[in-house]
Amino acid sequence: MQPSRRHLLLLLLLLLLLGVASFITTSSASSPVSRTFTVDQRGGGDFRSVQSAVNFVPDGNREWIRIHVKAGSYKEKVTIPSEKPYILLEGDGSRNTDITFDAHAHTGIDELVTGGGSGNVSNSPTFYSATFIVLADNFVARNIAFKNTYNARDKSKPDQAVAALVGGDRSAFYDCAFHGFQDTLCDFVGRHYFRRCLISGGVDFVFGYGQSIYDGCTLESNMPPSMRRQPGWVTAHARLAAGSPGGFVFKGGSLRGSGRQYLGRAWNPFATVVFYRMSMADIVVPQGWQAWHSPDVSSITFAEVECEGRGANKTGRVAWEKQLDEEQVHKFVDITFIDDGWLSKQPSL
Ligand SMILES: *[C@@H]1O[C@H](CO)[C@@H](O)[C@H](O)[C@H]1NC(C)=O
Ligand SMILES: *[C@@H]1O[C@H](CO)[C@@H](O)[C@H](O)[C@H]1NC(C)=O
Repeated sequence: MQPSRRHLLLLLLLLLLLGVASFITTSSASSPVSRTFTVDQRGGGDFRSVQSAVNFVPDGNREWIRIHVKAGSYKEKVTIPSEKPYILLEGDGSRNTDITFDAHAHTGIDELVTGGGSGNVSNSPTFYSATFIVLADNFVARNIAFKNTYNARDKSKPDQAVAALVGGDRSAFYDCAFHGFQDTLCDFVGRHYFRRCLISGGVDFVFGYGQSIYDGCTLESNMPPSMRRQPGWVTAHARLAAGSPGGFVFKGGSLRGSGRQYLGRAWNPFATVVFYRMSMADIVVPQGWQAWHSPDVSSITFAEVECEGRGANKTGRVAWEKQLDEEQVHKFVDITFIDDGWLSKQPSL
């Protein structure tokens, strides 16, 4: 009796394990990632550099390909061209894996405005300075950092030095970090979703024409305390016309760090930036916003809704800051602002 009961138990255990195993296989089979390449600069993967893995993705790719970048600092510029969609770029944590470079623009912001105003990446040295450029649609990154270290040495004469440029439609970033000083993250064009990301910078550190939700992200001002009299600008949004897409929505998360910051300045007349339920440290200048390249402040949509903290005190704000009604707030903060179904079809965590 004893042995056969033991056998029965073992059989039951085996069946249970098989059941669990098949459950695991089915759930991973439903994951849309078709294959994985690993990048390891020490030679333990399929590639030693991130760009060589990207180059291996076929043009016109239609299945999600994961590029897993093992821990390390990868000193290279990486471009994902528009021909290579459906890439999932993944690191071993944004403190462990980073792509880093130190290019810069050598140009004034006015040149950028006239040259890049049409949204053409090839025109602007600022855009070229980016360490990481993604022009493909359908891109996901997670657990990885993008850095531009050009201004890290000396912030007294900063130049435009982009860490990442996101120029495709339907891109999402989870638990990523973007480190720079001037023009850290070029949220260039397209619909983008950033969740639990860290963006550090001092001047225009989120800029572009993009239409994006930043969900639970941290904006970290790294203006040197010695430059306290020179505030920076967290955002420089570039929406051109009333009918143009675009808008940066910061939802939850926090704004903190050193120095002082305007929440944004209008790169173009219809700039649109909303801070919603964000915690703001005491680094925000009372006026909050600047009109900059907008001749008529009424076309600008800059708003703060239900934010908290000493930086969120609206007493000294410019009179033209928009007061949004409930319906307008919903339009910006609801995920439908960027998502018509694409987000849930991407590989998630
Ligand atoms: C972008 O600019 C480059 C260089 O001036 C030009 O060759 C190219 O045709 C432009 N592309 C578009 C889409 O305007
Ligand atoms: C907001 O700022 C004004 C002007 O500096 C000040 O008088 C007021 O007490 C502040 N409000 C809060 C809630 O801190």
